Amino acid sequence: MRARVRPGGTLGGEVRVPGDKSIAHRWLLMAATADGSSRLEGLPRSLDTSATARCVSMLAPAARPALEAWTSSPVVTGERNGSTWNRGTSTLDVDTLDLQGEGRRSLRRAPRELDCANSGTTMRLLAGLVSPSPFETVLTGDESLSVRPMERVAAPLRSMGANVTTEEGRPPLRIRGSNLTGIRFEPEVPSAQVKGAVLLAALAAEGTTTVVERVPTRDHTERLFLALGAPVRSEASGISVEGPFQHDGFRGAVPGDPSSAAFLLGAAALTGGDVTITDVGVNPTRLGFVHVLARMGLEVEVDVERDELGEPVGRMHLGPSGELRPITVDADEMPLVIDEVPLLAALAVHSGGPSRFEGGAELRVKESDRVATLAEGIRALGGDAAEEGDDLVVGGGGLAGGSAGSAGDHRIAMALGVAALAARGRSEIDGVESAAVSFPAFFPLLRSLGADVEVSA
Ligand code: S3P
Repeated sequence: MRARVRPGGTLGGEVRVPGDKSIAHRWLLMAATADGSSRLEGLPRSLDTSATARCVSMLAPAARPALEAWTSSPVVTGERNGSTWNRGTSTLDVDTLDLQGEGRRSLRRAPRELDCANSGTTMRLLAGLVSPSPFETVLTGDESLSVRPMERVAAPLRSMGANVTTEEGRPPLRIRGSNLTGIRFEPEVPSAQVKGAVLLAALAAEGTTTVVERVPTRDHTERLFLALGAPVRSEASGISVEGPFQHDGFRGAVPGDPSSAAFLLGAAALTGGDVTITDVGVNPTRLGFVHVLARMGLEVEVDVERDELGEPVGRMHLGPSGELRPITVDADEMPLVIDEVPLLAALAVHSGGPSRFEGGAELRVKESDRVATLAEGIRALGGDAAEEGDDLVVGGGGLAGGSAGSAGDHRIAMALGVAALAARGRSEIDGVESAAVSFPAFFPLLRSLGADVEVSA
């Protein structure tokens, strides 16, 4: 699908964004392995979270009927009856899932390979979840996921006692689960997915597992464990879990995804608009981009209003602002803005000078090689961007407008769409259906908030 973007609209209103996919993956896995029933509200029906639900439904017989019913209902990709995206407050469908768990030991061998689609988080977290289960699980993915690095998760799970193989470090992952013992593990690459996988396995392992982080990453796994009463400690020396521990069922409403909110805030900033995002997750480990936006001259007000299973939830507001300033994101800051670099680059191109995103090696192994796809995409839209080693350098001075592709990457599709809102001429972005990986209604929502965007087949 192609988005045609014309500059000139002003984006404004009060909206909700789909539920946080990082949180949703974790809540789904923990609910399916809980001892008892759970109620999850606000689950995003994006392609990534649907992949997790489908995979875990094949492993957890008690949870299967509810998960199958949930995943077979349609994904909302645009306006539809009774729930149009209004200017002002959007009426985002809120999905509730009631599901039954019979404990981690009730997991059964899946009847076939589990297809994690485009979702690295699904694959890596599932690897941790099934590592204690005494049967074989095979995890596969789409073309993009099939070339992403998996040894980083296979190695620690192996040292806990699971038999894990990869194809030269890439999917498919084959896991023969076993009794596990706790380990002390210091990941070479900062990764919340790897940390999450090891901590999920640690819940079933004998003894203490400690994950030492040189650079902090998003802490959703730890927060959920704590909220469920698991023996987890987060200290400067690392995050430790005492296993084994079986959790009960739980209830919670998934907060909106701050990484999705970032695109709307960016779109408002580039169009001189004013936007408020309500019911959004404001976990500090996800707000790295807010600090970078401040350095660009964009003040996002963040209010904390409540707590959902240990996750702070609130609102974000961005009002009209002045000229954008160029920025540098250094390698140590990168893990805290890893998902927002596409949006930050989309803004940087409209600033008054060159910006630099340093240490982008991890960006190269996301849903696309984002150092390359961002540089290419910005150039295709008539802007200035280059790769320097693993750094992405974005020249300021704006975009002329042009035609670019998403490279099948949801965040590239959305970032280029946002960047094009402030181009001097019209633009076309191909492959925008990939936005459904995290934010199915992104383009129709942009339009309903006032942007001049049209999507066609
Ligand atoms: C995620 C962690 C990040 C992020 C991804 C979701 C998670 O990946 O890029 O979109 O839910 O744990 P890494 O931790 O591998 O960098």
